[in-house]
Amino acid sequence: MAIASVSSVTSSVVKPRNSITVVDNRTGKSIEIEITNNSIPATAFSQLKAPYADGERAENDTPYGLRILDPSFINTAMIQSEITYIDGNKGFLMHRGYPIEQLAEKSSYLETAYLLIYGELPSKPQSDLWTWEIMHHTFVADDLQQMIRQMRYDSHPMSVFISAFAAMSAFAPEANPSLHGNDLYINNKALMNKQIVRILGKATTVAAMAYRIRINRPFTPPRSDLSYTENLLYMMDHMAEPNSYRPDPRLAKALDILFILHADHEMNCSTSTMVHVGSSLVDPYSCVAAASAALYGPLHGGANEAVIRMLTKIGSVENVPGFLEAVKQKKELLFGFGHRVYRETDPRSKVIREVADMVFEVCGKESLIDVAIALKDAALKDDYFTSRKLFPNVDYWSGLIYKAMGFPLDFFPVLFVVPRLSGYLAHWKQQLESGKNKISRPRQVYVGKSRRDYVPVEAREERTITGQNGLTEIPHYISKRRLTKI
Ligand code: CMC
Repeated sequence: MAIASVSSVTSSVVKPRNSITVVDNRTGKSIEIEITNNSIPATAFSQLKAPYADGERAENDTPYGLRILDPSFINTAMIQSEITYIDGNKGFLMHRGYPIEQLAEKSSYLETAYLLIYGELPSKPQSDLWTWEIMHHTFVADDLQQMIRQMRYDSHPMSVFISAFAAMSAFAPEANPSLHGNDLYINNKALMNKQIVRILGKATTVAAMAYRIRINRPFTPPRSDLSYTENLLYMMDHMAEPNSYRPDPRLAKALDILFILHADHEMNCSTSTMVHVGSSLVDPYSCVAAASAALYGPLHGGANEAVIRMLTKIGSVENVPGFLEAVKQKKELLFGFGHRVYRETDPRSKVIREVADMVFEVCGKESLIDVAIALKDAALKDDYFTSRKLFPNVDYWSGLIYKAMGFPLDFFPVLFVVPRLSGYLAHWKQQLESGKNKISRPRQVYVGKSRRDYVPVEAREERTITGQNGLTEIPHYISKRRLTKI
């Protein structure tokens, strides 16, 4: 990002149009900050320093410069990016300039992944080589397989996925900047691209393994002659059929479209984690593990799973009004609704609705669909939701498709994270190649206790500690039974 010029000005000077003038009323100091691409650098504000006011806490750091407070990054851009653009007010999404609807209709997941990572759609030979490379990096080392096998049958598949990627870091020492130096990837494109195809290749294999553990079946070796999503379905489902068994092509196609829709979504919670962790220059496997962990939560990629639990709890159409009432009283959350960026229907959810019909034709209509439609229709007519601009997001329908396809509920976030890896990698590559990587290190505004002196234990009064939520802290969880003295 071009560093904006910052200078002191007087009010009589005519200001350039692409700038803002900020006056610090504590000191009368005025600074002019250049606006680039409709953004200003937060660092400019650190120029605004003021002496402590009477009685002001030292911890406010007033003489060290003004801070920008933006918990949860409501209006703070973390990066400049060329990858994905969202117009949340119009419900529009594009990758490298291509609208998501066109990619969903005409592209394939691996082609979209190439577009995200390298910036252009591949030619036929480039596409063939890319697909070949990924489909020949699907094998997972035997000892890593054994480690994955040790996970319990009831492990959440995302825990397995995250653990496997964290462990993969140990299986690729040549890819580790901690061992080979900070500039490992700056000077070695081949090494970077090798990790990219490895990560994309192994993701489906690890995902299938997480599923096979829970059904207590041996792992199925990957097949490089199948498409990316066909191979995933094959590794999950192949049992005693002949090896020529192929998953239903209509389901593989539906999954491929879903993968395109999930491939990237700019600075969401998990991709920003990828950028944040990647900024420390740790290896890409550790970055992927951290980003996947961020995705796993119910407010992010776990929402598709939460939608089905919510619909199941509602049970039938007549219970919809009661449920919405509970949402309005803030006793429930309407999962699959709302988005930080979209103030209109998420364009992916429109495409997904069509994919749902494709899947229901093969697998039969999902029984919860009537509840889902009634809930959506009622919410969209209700002022509580419309005034807050809450519309269905990608997770509202995707869970119903996955359920109709027979995936277990807790596998849904895996079906979100596997395609999202291409977005993670596109951002990781962009960041390392920008030449501007600096470690992510947010500041804080300290509102805790001011400096105080240590009190020896004998001199301390016992204090009941109340947390921020008003509940009393319980400093230990040892049961009374175990504390009983013999
Ligand atoms: N159900 C009920 N009320 C909601 C919901 C919802 N799903 N989402 C937002 N609100 C209310 C919220 O209570 C607040 O009301 P008030 O003004 O009275 O305090 C208002 O709408 C603004 O919401 P917010 O919490 O400030 O919005 P946010 O941008 O911080 O949160 C969100 C975005 C996606 C976390 C949130 O909408 C949510 O929790 N949705 C349900 C979970 C979900 O579907 N997540 C998947 C997101 S899309 C896929 C992805 O990228 O992960």
